[in-house]
Amino acid sequence: MSARLILASWLLVLAGLLDFACCSASYDVPDYVAKHAPIVWLHSDDPYLPSDLLTHVQHTTPKIDGKFIKDKLPALNLDNLDLLNNYRDVALASNDDPLSNPAWMRGTAPDKDGRIHDATPCVVILVDNPFNDVDAFYFYFYSFDQGPNITQVLHPLERIVKGGKVGQGMHFGNHVGDWEHNMIRFKDGKPVGIWYSQHRDGAAYQWGDPELTVTDGRPTVYSARGSHANYAKPGDNIHDVALIDWCDKGKKWDPVLSAYFFKYHKSNEIVTTLNPPDKKNSGPPAHNYTSLFYYDGTWGDDQLSDSDPRQDHVPKFGFRRFLDGPQGPKYKQIVRKEIYPNRRPKKTWIEFSAGIFMTAYPLALEGWRGWVTFVFVVILIFLLGVGVKVAITKGVRRYYSKGRYQKLQQGEQILMEDFETNEVLFSSRDRSMERDRPDRPDRDRGDEFV
Ligand SMILES: *[C@@H]1O[C@H](CO)[C@@H](O)[C@H](O)[C@H]1NC(C)=O
Ligand SMILES: *[C@@H]1O[C@H](CO)[C@@H](O)[C@H](O)[C@H]1NC(C)=O
Repeated sequence: MSARLILASWLLVLAGLLDFACCSASYDVPDYVAKHAPIVWLHSDDPYLPSDLLTHVQHTTPKIDGKFIKDKLPALNLDNLDLLNNYRDVALASNDDPLSNPAWMRGTAPDKDGRIHDATPCVVILVDNPFNDVDAFYFYFYSFDQGPNITQVLHPLERIVKGGKVGQGMHFGNHVGDWEHNMIRFKDGKPVGIWYSQHRDGAAYQWGDPELTVTDGRPTVYSARGSHANYAKPGDNIHDVALIDWCDKGKKWDPVLSAYFFKYHKSNEIVTTLNPPDKKNSGPPAHNYTSLFYYDGTWGDDQLSDSDPRQDHVPKFGFRRFLDGPQGPKYKQIVRKEIYPNRRPKKTWIEFSAGIFMTAYPLALEGWRGWVTFVFVVILIFLLGVGVKVAITKGVRRYYSKGRYQKLQQGEQILMEDFETNEVLFSSRDRSMERDRPDRPDRDRGDEFV
């Protein structure tokens, strides 16, 4: 073999290697995504565990407004689910009554190392940002979300909602299908922050936040009993003003050990499939399953109608026992400026008033304080009444004694008397305002009043 030929064949081999490295790498998940993946602690008493996505699809039927779709559809799976996007408002409705607690709805428990066998309840989606930022979304899927019962309503609101089935322990806010997630933002492959989804919103932390527990580079996540909201600390976590989520170190779950991995391309809004971390350099993935991402419908039944005997509500507040199932990962705002979602939910008036009530309660309403507040309010109302009466009598008297009001002549001043009163009344407040605002130019008080 001539030297030239040898060189040429070496170059070919090298090119092949480079080619391989380039293109199989594009199917690989960067190491840091698994290395810093969350460890989830499922609640010891949670009857609804992480659930296999395909199993869920196979035990549900697409419906629109509770009715079957007329067209003949093929058996659905994770590769064709998005054919349902040909219809509007599709819900994957459960084939079983949720109250009968079918096995598939209860999901699969992990083994003692945290691995879930024979089920894939986790979806990891990587989103590239400028400046070497990568957002890794770790989505957790549960076939059923069990809302709180009366035991999870904070005092004293539990007394208000006590009636009916709620008083007997009925759980409310339940739904078929439950998508939760953490998001970790990586900069140059290093984690910088994490998001925990909790009900309609969640919580964001810097990686070094003392409230986070990070063990061997992996953040600890507590999945609340039934609702699967994610928290950084165990015990009772309060959400939506007056509801309690219970968390404990029940069962360890290492979600990335049984997950589908995808990459989301912002420019064209498509996702491509990646190989799981233990199948590195193995070329194009054996499956796509991207359909699970593209599917626009919901993953559980629509809220049951009020005429359905299984439906019920919380007295006074009206919260329903069964709610709509959620939409999938595509609808969790995976393109983010910050670690938290770009759009955050607004407080409903009910939350707002419950918030005021819950704040006021321990300060002014609880036990004997309630009586003090009551007496105080009664005296206040009485004094106001007296005040108004005196003012009216005085005003009327003045009106008749002096005639109509007199207009001030131009240049006429009634300053001095009022100025002094004002100064006494407001001086302390003015000073405190100045303390709060050192940047405020020191104004000449005289100028302000003249
Ligand atoms: C509320 O739910 C929890 C968990 O299922 C249960 O232990 C408790 O007994 C329930 N409370 C009532 C009043 O039924
Ligand atoms: C996955 O999708 C790509 C692009 O559409 C296609 O070329 C490939 O054959 C698909 N792989 C499998 C296993 O279906």
